[in-house]
Amino acid sequence: MKRHNAAELPVPASFGGVQDEKGKVEKVGGGGGRQGKGSCCSRLWFMVVLSATVTMLVRYYYYDSSVGQGVAGGVVRVDSVARHSYHRKVNSVDRGGGRPSFSGSFSSPPNDDSKKPLADSGGGGPLLSGHSPSPVDASTKKPEPLQDGGGNGSVAAAVDHKWLSDSSTSTTESDGDQPAAAHPFARALAAADNKGDRCGGRYIYVQDLPPRFNTDMVKNCAALFPWTDKCEFTANGGFGLQMSSAGGVFQETGWYNTDQYTMDIIFHERIKRYECLTVDPSLAAAVYVPFYAGLELERHLWGFNVTKRDAMALEAVDIITARPEWRFMGGRDHFFTAGRTTWDFRRLADGDSDWGSKLFLLPAIQNMTALVAESSPWHLNDAAIPFPTAFHPASDEAVFIWQDKIRRLERPWLFTFAGAPRPGITKSIRNELIAQCRASSVCSLMQCVDGPINKCGSPASYMKLFQSSTFCLQPQGDSYTRKSAFDCMLAGCIPVFFHPGTAYVQYTWHLPKNHADYSVYISEDDVRNNVSIEERLRQIPPATVERMRETVINLVPVVVYAQPSSKLETVKDAFDLAIDTIIGKVTKLRRAIVEGQAEEEKLEMYSWKYPLLREGQKVEDPHEWDPLFAFV
Ligand SMILES: *[C@@H]1O[C@H](CO)[C@@H](O)[C@H](O)[C@H]1NC(C)=O
Ligand SMILES: *[C@@H]1O[C@H](CO)[C@@H](O)[C@H](O)[C@H]1NC(C)=O
Ligand SMILES: *[C@@H]1O[C@H](CO)[C@@H](O)[C@H](O)[C@H]1NC(C)=O
Ligand SMILES: *[C@@H]1O[C@H](CO)[C@@H](O)[C@H](O)[C@H]1NC(C)=O
Repeated sequence: MKRHNAAELPVPASFGGVQDEKGKVEKVGGGGGRQGKGSCCSRLWFMVVLSATVTMLVRYYYYDSSVGQGVAGGVVRVDSVARHSYHRKVNSVDRGGGRPSFSGSFSSPPNDDSKKPLADSGGGGPLLSGHSPSPVDASTKKPEPLQDGGGNGSVAAAVDHKWLSDSSTSTTESDGDQPAAAHPFARALAAADNKGDRCGGRYIYVQDLPPRFNTDMVKNCAALFPWTDKCEFTANGGFGLQMSSAGGVFQETGWYNTDQYTMDIIFHERIKRYECLTVDPSLAAAVYVPFYAGLELERHLWGFNVTKRDAMALEAVDIITARPEWRFMGGRDHFFTAGRTTWDFRRLADGDSDWGSKLFLLPAIQNMTALVAESSPWHLNDAAIPFPTAFHPASDEAVFIWQDKIRRLERPWLFTFAGAPRPGITKSIRNELIAQCRASSVCSLMQCVDGPINKCGSPASYMKLFQSSTFCLQPQGDSYTRKSAFDCMLAGCIPVFFHPGTAYVQYTWHLPKNHADYSVYISEDDVRNNVSIEERLRQIPPATVERMRETVINLVPVVVYAQPSSKLETVKDAFDLAIDTIIGKVTKLRRAIVEGQAEEEKLEMYSWKYPLLREGQKVEDPHEWDPLFAFV
């Protein structure tokens, strides 16, 4: 496949982001960069002088339910945009070529007032400190299984099983006789086949990174995020502050004012308590890199030059790639979280006014899986997992009680919309949605307004709204996705999507393949052509509505992140599903390598389409959504 260079970058035809008429992306960020477009300036709330370098931070305030922040000053990232190049993923080490032409744009720092740091429970004491010495040095030549405790060949005696309740059997026998033994992950595959090993095939190795790559960011949240009250949101292991039941909107416990961008912390807290950790990377089904890529970028996203924005990412990559386990598979068994949208990590060029970091473009990261809140339809190295919502149950029971509650609710409204218009995004259909909602007697509108009183920012207010409605409209946010879609489902409200990029091609690990099972799709073009949303929704037979709602309610567990301390007993949550999928992916790849199968070559440009393919379908076959993800 042809490799595109920056000069001939294709532009996606349909992205709803902010590009001006010429498709040029607005300049942003950097030292004092600011958007000159009216759309943005109407939202310009104030500027602060951040530092002695007199860096101006332009801040745009959206009060939108897609923001998970209940305090005054909820803000959403704004106007991200895409233009992409695409190139083959396959093993390419390719720094310059295939340069992505996406540009994001200006996002706001997440909050205004600098608040007092709160005691944070999760920050200081990484359980990882329990690890035995990090596996050897980078000088190891052969990609052989590590011997943590010293010892011979394939003997697994070195495996530290102190976290493993039931793994005493397994994996020690006769690797040398098996054909797979030539591969550094042979023991991991053998473990997967060992029925006697409860954790067989599920071991995760957590790399030992210096705390400045992770927990220090939480511990020092006040200093690290000086212009925000991020500490409120990094508290409680990334869940944020606990909320009261808000007059019965929530349950008494398990509800938090969770920021949409704290997935890095939440994930790490869960991994620390994952039941099948190993200190032996050669036994691991996957390697977790505890780099808080999203949080790290967030604090350098505004007002810092590209050198600064990339510095820690480059450092992390140097460390990771120097480790012996990197050579097992060139990092293709490694994963990490970058709890923001993918566009923040795919900087187009290296000017200080270009948006974001270039983390995802680094050759090493091309081989890894980055878990993000929104993935790229044109790249294979990221995968979207649900935005965190306000609910963090501590038991199956808590989930069931919530499901019962939302199943029983009276829903007086047929549909609902909570959000703000996007005057700066020419293709946005939000004005049409707001107009239709206003004109309908069965639609409840929560129009979010700019200003310090953030009407939509309170989880209690928008969750109450979603609980009173059968359907909720989920147009694109500032980029394809919205946290609101998950709030909506959590409330047992059936989402109505207008672009497949908002959910269907994103959260394919978590949501049903058949989108009609749990959601309604009305194309943006239909909305622009004045299709009546109310009529469309009324046409759905009540029995079908019931069935869809039941599906949505059954999805509650997979769109929540449970408490790390107790997790759920039998039910899988968003974290569990993500781990299962990553492990499945790595294991499949390993088995293919062992069996000498040619690896399936995937085209980056179709990365959105692979999960949608039905039996026998080829990726080149036409799809009704081709135009929505096409390049012009
Ligand atoms: C390693 O193997 C050698 C010979 O194969 C043996 O003499 C030695 O005791 C073994 N060491 C350990 C730690 O098993
Ligand atoms: C980038 O900014 C940092 C401070 O954040 C400064 O020390 C450094 O010199 C800058 N680099 C360039 C190339 O401007
Ligand atoms: C990515 O993986 C491939 C295949 O394992 C390997 O050849 C390549 O060196 C890896 N890239 C990096 C940067 O390690
Ligand atoms: C949709 O309706 C609006 C207001 O009724 C009207 O101005 C517009 O021309 C209509 N558009 C189409 C495509 O019919």
